[in-house]
Amino acid sequence: MTDVASRASGADPAPDGAGPPSPDAPAAGASDVNRTFDPSVDALPERLVGAAVTDAERADAGPAVIEVKDLGIRYSLRLTKKNTLRQSFVNAFRRKTGPKEFWALRNVEFDLVQGESLGVIGPNGAGKSTLLQVLAGILTPSEGEVTVRGQISSLLTLGAGFDQDLTGRDNILLAGAFLGIPHRDMMDRLEPIIDFADLGEFIDAPIKTYSSGMRARLGFSIATSVDPDVLLLDEVLATGDAVFRAKSKARVLDLVRSAKAIVLVTHDMNWVTEFCNRAMLIEKGTVIVQGEPAEVVALHLEHSEQAKREKMQQIRRYGGEAPKVK
Ligand SMILES: Nc1ncnc2c1ncn2[C@@H]1O[C@H](COP(=O)(O)OP(=O)(O)O)[C@@H](O)[C@H]1O
Ligand SMILES: [Mg+2]
Repeated sequence: MTDVASRASGADPAPDGAGPPSPDAPAAGASDVNRTFDPSVDALPERLVGAAVTDAERADAGPAVIEVKDLGIRYSLRLTKKNTLRQSFVNAFRRKTGPKEFWALRNVEFDLVQGESLGVIGPNGAGKSTLLQVLAGILTPSEGEVTVRGQISSLLTLGAGFDQDLTGRDNILLAGAFLGIPHRDMMDRLEPIIDFADLGEFIDAPIKTYSSGMRARLGFSIATSVDPDVLLLDEVLATGDAVFRAKSKARVLDLVRSAKAIVLVTHDMNWVTEFCNRAMLIEKGTVIVQGEPAEVVALHLEHSEQAKREKMQQIRRYGGEAPKVK
């Protein structure tokens, strides 16, 4: 591996790394189309004015907080594939079965300055979570270079990184320690974090007694309460009930306004067009387009429609009958 990753801060609160591979991993090698739109100030909603969007403003914003050059992530399917015992036997006899590795990301190139909010979109399995895991320092690039300057806070897998036997309160302090935040500062932040998560007396119960929604609320509250320079969020905006969703939306917007850099994976296209000042469409590990959110979202919707039509055609080809299962 030619790993070149430089980081000013490596601390990450979500040590839960890459999950088991899915057996239907797509082959690498999609086309390397890479168009770039120039985002213009006019296209931005008013609330994002202040974020650096023109080239001149981006230069003024100082060095990029995230710089990604020619990034590639290659998964070794042999090492990571979670095989059943039966599958292991089958493989041992059959020897050569399928590809041994594949590129989950290839030729990814972008940078992000303070004040930018990047929405990453694309179909399932495109490589979005993989990208965030690289930015968080959980995965090391197989090729290329990733530089992240400043304190990162990430919420990648809901509720990941909690110690199940400790209380919510103790887990907040633990997360602070992971991030290198002095204990005294963390004690000051404790109450606001608890208030926001709104867990009532559960805050003093062990995490293992929490529902997944409660875990997510606590994780979100911690990740967004530590004044990060870079916030990474993977599909966490749709968390919890309507009240919490509204609260968490408002919280992320506060971070957007206070000129922090955000990289956010979401299926909520309204969020991307309303609150992101840049967007990136990834398909099969390749960046198809990046730039002005409305244009990127439009292309994504077009591609999704196309994919749906192709699926429908396939179904019709079978005469509308479900394939027979023995
Ligand atoms: N640890 C792993 N080993 C092998 N393949 C993996 C691993 N993690 C993810 N993948 C595969 O990499 C591709 C990208 O995954 P992911 O980044 O989770 O996509 P997304 O978040 O866009 O849905 C998928 O095909 C997935 O099956
Ligand atoms: Mg994902």
